[in-house]
Amino acid sequence: MRRKLAAGNWKMNGNGASLAEIETLARDHAEGGTDLVICPPATLISRAAAVAGPIDIGGQDCHMAASGAHTGDISASQLRDAGATAVILGHSERREAHEEDSAMIREKARAAHAEDLTTIICVGESLAQRDAQNTLDIIGAQLSLSVPDTATGHNTVIAYEPIWAIGTGKVPSMNEIGQVHDFIRSNLERRFGSGVGRSVRLLYGGSVKPGNAAEIFSVSNVDGALVGGASLKAADFSPIVAALDATT
Ligand code: PGA
Repeated sequence: MRRKLAAGNWKMNGNGASLAEIETLARDHAEGGTDLVICPPATLISRAAAVAGPIDIGGQDCHMAASGAHTGDISASQLRDAGATAVILGHSERREAHEEDSAMIREKARAAHAEDLTTIICVGESLAQRDAQNTLDIIGAQLSLSVPDTATGHNTVIAYEPIWAIGTGKVPSMNEIGQVHDFIRSNLERRFGSGVGRSVRLLYGGSVKPGNAAEIFSVSNVDGALVGGASLKAADFSPIVAALDATT
């Protein structure tokens, strides 16, 4: 059985006062059957880790090198040193704004695995790609290039995030989500064998809210969610976690 996972991506939001949201989540979900990870901005990682209790803290990116002349970047070992146990890689906002391609993301994931960080590797199609019926081709190519051979069920989570659903309030139909998640599952089983392929958790991301979470979590091969806007406040994130708890 794969454990359910609710991951929060705070993006470039939050400051010291926001740590109270993590404290609230830690208090309210100390017991549940769902794993939680919050990925705050790098400036908050060590302070978040100090108050997170059972919640894991993650970064939102890391560099592929261990150290060196890379102004503004953070290495996987530095994330680990700050208290992170996970890292989001290949989010579409980084693929676009920072021109990260899948080969770079694979190298970052390799570096993160060497530090025993759990990598949440993001894949997803644009609206134009979906309209052209290229979704599965795009996802297949992103998976084979972005996921390194070092992936295991312990160190790798895949987040399916249609780019057009992020921050827009638009969500694919449940059939569409199921089709992509089943495709990702069989792709991983083919490449890594059924043991690893079945143990990697698959998250859906893109406009997950308290109001649509239960329906999304009923879809096959959806093991949780990667949540942006609705992860910033415990009052929004908690009902999403509760919807996931209810499936276990
Ligand atoms: P959203 O963001 O939940 O605000 O749509 C999801 C994400 O970008 O990970």
